[in-house]
Amino acid sequence: MKAIHVGLLGLGTVGSGVVKIIEDHQDKLMHQVGCPVKVKKVLVKNIEKNRQIHIEKEILTTNVEDIISNPEIDVVIEVMGGVEDTRQLLIEALKAKKHVVTANKDLMALYGTELLSIATENGCDLFYEASVAGGIPILRSLVDGLASDRITKMMGIVNGTTNFILTKMTKLGSAYEDVLKEAQDLGYAEADPTSDVEGLDAARKMAILARLGFSMHVDLEDVNVKGISSVTDDDIDYSKRLGYTMKLIGIAQRENGKIEVAVEPTLLPETHPLASVNDEYNAVYVYGEAVGETMFYGPGAGSLPTATSVVSDLVGVMKNMRLGVNGRSAIAPQFEKQIKSPDH
Ligand code: NDP
Ligand code: HSE
Repeated sequence: MKAIHVGLLGLGTVGSGVVKIIEDHQDKLMHQVGCPVKVKKVLVKNIEKNRQIHIEKEILTTNVEDIISNPEIDVVIEVMGGVEDTRQLLIEALKAKKHVVTANKDLMALYGTELLSIATENGCDLFYEASVAGGIPILRSLVDGLASDRITKMMGIVNGTTNFILTKMTKLGSAYEDVLKEAQDLGYAEADPTSDVEGLDAARKMAILARLGFSMHVDLEDVNVKGISSVTDDDIDYSKRLGYTMKLIGIAQRENGKIEVAVEPTLLPETHPLASVNDEYNAVYVYGEAVGETMFYGPGAGSLPTATSVVSDLVGVMKNMRLGVNGRSAIAPQFEKQIKSPDH
């Protein structure tokens, strides 16, 4: 029984979780796909760095060709972040006929359409469940579970860092800067947390959700974005006194063939279900014409929750390998037409 060999790009918060799940859940993976899964090589920036996870040093490399040009590697898992260089790496990997799993929403929001078509051209899978809402299987739910319905609106909390900050400011009166630092230490924040606090991370995730939910192309520049960096202690105090909770809410809706996507701090009545989504947790309402209202809830950031989505994507790739159907079932929107929001 030939093992599936994985090349991992990145061994930080998410990458360490991926290694841990592949090791700890080997029996479950074997049961799912009928063969062992082995992490063959791991790309890092600094081999000498002290790591929270035990890993044999000879597996680590700083040379990406040890993974991309390695004929023994079947699947590349990208959990290192970055956009332009990472895009080139993944294009190279797909052209080398390696299946790709990524958690990179920046990349998928900007270049997802291009990368998915390169994947299909090369008979490869490109899965990216972890790119939106960490451990919540929201992308598969949209493209599989709700495939028969016409989605009209998606709304929710899709950034763990800002939800963590707003929760601690509201419930404990913590200072913004202190909680941001805590979110960074816990591995929730992006390498540059500006994209979290300015709402860009949430905007990218909403763009991905809108593409999959509405089967329409959404440009990032069409998303109206406002983050939480200007929210003050006084804003939080006043909203509490008035019986409201402040949350960074993303919304994507389709009306009369037009789509609108926006992210902004929003005051919710304390009784609203999204008001009780706390810490790094995310929740997304999906409204469908036939199904009505559904809500997806779970951890939106962090090592093991995010790695669960990544490794589940890996299982999806391996099942396709067994069936010989890779490249035909990627999480790819079938666009109805190219359309812009009403302002553009
Ligand atoms: P980290 O910063 O914790 O880890 C990044 C890893 O990639 C490190 O191991 C680093 O090496 C390596 N790396 C970065 N750049 C390079 C490079 N140029 N060459 C070689 N190695 C490199 O990031 P996260 O694990 O938090 O995030 C990874 C990805 O997952 C990002 O795209 C992020 O947006 C996404 N994501 C993160 C979530 C989270 O909760 N953290 C949730 C969902 C998605 P070294 O260790 O040597 O520094
Ligand atoms: N920085 C992101 C967040 C990680 O806080 O939601 C998960 O995508």
